[in-house]
Amino acid sequence: MGYDNSHDRCSNLNQEQDSDFTRMADKAVSRRGFMAGMGALGIGAFIGMSPIAQSVQAAMSASVKSKLIGFDPVPASTADTVVVPKGYKVDNLISWGDPLFDGVPAFDPSGDAPASSQALQFGDNTDGMSLFPLSADRAVMAVNNEYTNVEYLYAHQGKAITADDVLKAQNAHGVSIFEIKKSSTGWVVDRSGQRNRRITANTPMQLTGPAAGDALLKTAADETGTDVLGTFNNCANGQTPWGTYLTCEENFHKYFGSNDDTYTVPAAQQRYGIKGADKTYQWSKHDSRFDLSKNPNEPNRHGWVVEIDPMDPNSKPKKRTALGRFKHENAALMVDGSGHVVVYLGDDERGEHLYKFVSKDKYIANNAVHNRNLLDEGTLYVAKFMAVDGELKGQGQWLELTFGKNGLTPENGFNSQAEVLIHTRLAATQVGATTMDRPEWVAVHPNKQTAFCTLTNNKNRGKKDNQPVSGPNPRANNVYGQIVRWAPAQGDHTRSDFVWDLYLIAGNPSLHSTGLLGGSANITPDNMFNSPDGLGFDEAGRLWIMTDGKYSNSDEFAGMGNNQMLCGDPESGEVHRFLTGPIAAEVTGLTFTPDYKTMFVGIQHPGEKLKASHFPEGGMSKPRSTVVVITREDGGVIGA
Ligand code: FEO
Ligand code: CA
Ligand code: CA
Repeated sequence: MGYDNSHDRCSNLNQEQDSDFTRMADKAVSRRGFMAGMGALGIGAFIGMSPIAQSVQAAMSASVKSKLIGFDPVPASTADTVVVPKGYKVDNLISWGDPLFDGVPAFDPSGDAPASSQALQFGDNTDGMSLFPLSADRAVMAVNNEYTNVEYLYAHQGKAITADDVLKAQNAHGVSIFEIKKSSTGWVVDRSGQRNRRITANTPMQLTGPAAGDALLKTAADETGTDVLGTFNNCANGQTPWGTYLTCEENFHKYFGSNDDTYTVPAAQQRYGIKGADKTYQWSKHDSRFDLSKNPNEPNRHGWVVEIDPMDPNSKPKKRTALGRFKHENAALMVDGSGHVVVYLGDDERGEHLYKFVSKDKYIANNAVHNRNLLDEGTLYVAKFMAVDGELKGQGQWLELTFGKNGLTPENGFNSQAEVLIHTRLAATQVGATTMDRPEWVAVHPNKQTAFCTLTNNKNRGKKDNQPVSGPNPRANNVYGQIVRWAPAQGDHTRSDFVWDLYLIAGNPSLHSTGLLGGSANITPDNMFNSPDGLGFDEAGRLWIMTDGKYSNSDEFAGMGNNQMLCGDPESGEVHRFLTGPIAAEVTGLTFTPDYKTMFVGIQHPGEKLKASHFPEGGMSKPRSTVVVITREDGGVIGA
């Protein structure tokens, strides 16, 4: 999604973890007069007072050279192409409209191709993706197709939408699953792959977990409240160690409307941005499932995390209600040392929240039957961040979202766990969660000691009463974004207490030599960017950061160029620009081959809103969202 879519441990740390964490924290935010205090951690004083802070500041000014990062950074770019470091190469894997099966028509740039073609082609707006290896030279890819660009999808650019146009858009959404194989020229799509599949806004799915079957999930077409059609606005993703793919439903509110002007959207749905008007997609005009006046509960059946078995093209995807209903960004899943499955989840909207799910049962390696429904039972929590005024680190608490606890009672409008989950946002407000600057992707460091979340931007910070400038959201009218990091007590991600700091504050140090708008110590005129969004670690602990920001390259964003991908070393604090995207594109979606020698990156919506991009084919071609493949000419590990 674009820049401004609002979609629209604490003192219990053991000594070793304590020193590791505070060392990293100092390195990250030690310059420009806003280094946060150690006071919140109860282990020292602030700004140049503590010996730890003094030594860290000395290290930063000596310009540490990361042992993890070995490429030559690329400059900011406004070119209509993907630029990577010297010694790297870029190939295209698949673009919107490319056939996924033998015998399917090729992409038709006219905008007049029918829905039936799109149903068998790669969907639009590539986003989160995961790779499931079959052998050294064959794998299954699962890729989200988040939304459509009506200006390119239809010759009429959305001005005269027919029933087939609605079906075509529905077929361009969802998830594309396809086999890839390594050829003499590199990785290519295998259109004859037995696992190739399109999952669209109409694919039958099952609602599972505590909310399944609830009255709020029943519709005229489904009296069980368990059989739902489709998934759409699939933003980012997750992957489980038992071999399944998680696709996250984000801005589902945009697809509903009412053909009855007298219909009033209930308050609980208004909290999710559901409105009677459906101006962009206009699905409700031709598909009564999306007409709120006829199917008022249909929106409750969307906004979930969906689990898909990519190995079985006949399997029924499952919407896991235990993970809550909100505008899900990604699902950062890990198996904690205790064996419980922990999933961190962002809700990407201004002033919304950061969540954590902890499974009731433990993961058992190589026991697919046992693991299959681990995401159906567990506890959902929402984050509360605490800080001394003006400090950029502090303590935090995960607040439990369980019916009967923390005020989630009938007196406050919650009559069951199902209602807590269907109205997760309302429950989070009830328990006093911290309103955040649009939580996007979460990534857990491979050492399992820390987790990171991009807070992309928030023009409402400091403006709305429920969004005060404080803690991990330290700037009013936040145009640049930041990345918050937390470490759970005792390194145990199932615990409710943690400590946090800001790993990175994006900014423009060319315009702002002092203060928060210049960004944190690790942001320089050479690596600056805005609106961090996609986030992921590789096995070695490199943090890959993708941006979905303003690409005007002017005013507050001068010198930043197009959206991009950066590589961070959380240990040294260094951040280097690895890749720049084409014109009017977002860089989003990341996965690797198991040897980390091939990286797959998503280039979403090049030339959005009719801006002058012809990526990837050049000439006067229609711009198309594309998954690119990045390798090293010497065959080495990406980033090293
Ligand atoms: Fe689909 Fe929050 O990005
Ligand atoms: Ca995103
Ligand atoms: Ca974004």
